[in-house]
Amino acid sequence: MANFTLNGKAVSLEVDPQTPLLWVLREHLGLTGTKFGCGIAQCGACTVHLNGTAARTCVLPVLAAEGGDIVTIEGLAENDDHPLQQAWIEEQVPQCGYCQSGQIMQAADFLKNTPDPTDEQVTAAMAGNLCRCMAYVRIHRAVKRAATIASERATSQVNGQQTDATATTAGVGIFDPRATAGTVSHSAVEETSHGKV
Ligand code: FES
Ligand code: FES
Repeated sequence: MANFTLNGKAVSLEVDPQTPLLWVLREHLGLTGTKFGCGIAQCGACTVHLNGTAARTCVLPVLAAEGGDIVTIEGLAENDDHPLQQAWIEEQVPQCGYCQSGQIMQAADFLKNTPDPTDEQVTAAMAGNLCRCMAYVRIHRAVKRAATIASERATSQVNGQQTDATATTAGVGIFDPRATAGTVSHSAVEETSHGKV
């Protein structure tokens, strides 16, 4: 029996605990975005996140993921709009596409910990993910672009929040004497009326 969270959902299935996680994801659970490349932890095609860190599932027995939190390319972003996915489209990265899920999952872990990477850092972080189509230049460019997209999104989110806060403050802070006058006047009328009655 194996139990873990997969892309935010609890999963429980009968399987030999020594089965590589990649087999479980692809064959048992039908998530074929993660690919089999070398089978010996050398190419990165099978990369997913296990407890927030990039892991190579071709050599990882499902037992090692027991109780863990797994994210595959299918669950990287709710609307497939992760900065890396956007950058990958902008830069038209894939050739055959086979290595690309692993590349993106590796890059996602890297950017989480290094949000403003240098060229050298990108090269070092992505060096273990092989691409038989030699799309390395575009992969590199897209990782850098994703860092910029993430930073722009964070800035616009902060600005949006500031705008909201300003609007709220302005709404609360505006003193409208007419409104007060109206209230006073209304109350006064009521009091007067009551007084009369
Ligand atoms: S298939 Fe896992 S690293 Fe190549
Ligand atoms: S795009 Fe073909 S292997 Fe990388």
